[in-house]
Amino acid sequence: MLEMERARSLDIAAIREDFPVLKRLVHGKRLVYLDNAATSQKPLQVINTISEYYEKHNSNIHRSVHQLAEEATGSFESTRDNLREFVNARYREEIVFTKNATEALNIAARCIFEKYVKSGDKVVVTEMEHHSNFVPWQQLSKKNNAKLEIVSVTDEGELNESDLEAKLKDAQVFSFAQMSNVLGTINDAKRLTRLAHDRGCLVVVDGAQSAPHMPVDVQDIDCDFFALSAHKMLGPTGVGSLYGKRNVLEEIPPFLLGGDMIRQVHRDETEWNELPWKFEAGTSNIADVIGFAPALDYLRNLGMNNIWEHERRICKKALEEMSKIDGMKIYGPMNENKRGAVISFNLGDVHAHDVASILDSEGVAIRSGHHCAQVMMEKLGVPATSRASFYIYNDLDDLESLCSALAKVKEILK
Ligand code: ALA
Repeated sequence: MLEMERARSLDIAAIREDFPVLKRLVHGKRLVYLDNAATSQKPLQVINTISEYYEKHNSNIHRSVHQLAEEATGSFESTRDNLREFVNARYREEIVFTKNATEALNIAARCIFEKYVKSGDKVVVTEMEHHSNFVPWQQLSKKNNAKLEIVSVTDEGELNESDLEAKLKDAQVFSFAQMSNVLGTINDAKRLTRLAHDRGCLVVVDGAQSAPHMPVDVQDIDCDFFALSAHKMLGPTGVGSLYGKRNVLEEIPPFLLGGDMIRQVHRDETEWNELPWKFEAGTSNIADVIGFAPALDYLRNLGMNNIWEHERRICKKALEEMSKIDGMKIYGPMNENKRGAVISFNLGDVHAHDVASILDSEGVAIRSGHHCAQVMMEKLGVPATSRASFYIYNDLDDLESLCSALAKVKEILK
């Protein structure tokens, strides 16, 4: 699906050295961390940058003229330049820092509704959305008397094309995940954006699961908004970003009002600050934004193409090996080119939480539950799945540990 340069293999042993948590034991066993779709681990480069910020530079930004304030502001703003380059936005003004992808999607939804969606209009999402890209659209549609259309997912875990085309007709907005956090399905964001734009729709892409794992180029995709979260891409929690096309961000009103997002305030009126600060009210999560920069550098140094290829190889092997387990049901596309290495499954009629608990006793960390995607669970006809999700520091030994622990589940519960 993606056109890639020749990939270089990742040096997993060297990568693992940078992640202190991977050295610890869990229940006396080597930690096999396979819950990366929930959050990734953090390398020393990120941990040290945050400590150093608090030890040497802590100050508020954009306000004071003293040395510490200049240093903090400089590092904060240079992270914006770093992220602009990482997602290939055209202008730094298009990168707004938020607390996570959820906040980014909420801002996009609120502002889009306020400016562009009227009573009777149509908003389109898909069945495979995370609650953060579903509930805001659902609730705003109800409140504003708009119609929420939900594109169905096929039995293979892909978007139903004819349903999509029918639902996009006369719609105002289309919001979708570039990678599903349940099925792993990769939606071709560029093609879907073109399809929607041809029908006059604004496009919002939830990149929370894709940006950590594959190259993202927002100019190439041509979407109007793109949301991501730092903590899934080696960075700290509490930081996300909303990319918005400059002309759209200029048109829409700000969501949060207060300090830093104003240019002038008078008794009867307020003038908004310039982009991107118009959307960054209040004191930002300065330390963690600054701590996001070494995470971006780390990913860039490995190369996003190489990361994608590494995970594709693990995904292919995981699909093969896991399918051999008696009673295993894997959800989502079985072709590793159509999905990321986030693999939801159920093992016979064993409850997903029981699977996860037994795996934990073997040192294997996965997630179980509805994954904040209950509409997708309803579609799959299950209350929950277990989910193993891989990243840059995982290798085939980790997959082997997962499969052995799954064999243990069968042994214990037979
Ligand atoms: N959205 C994250 C997940 O899918 C938390 O696990």
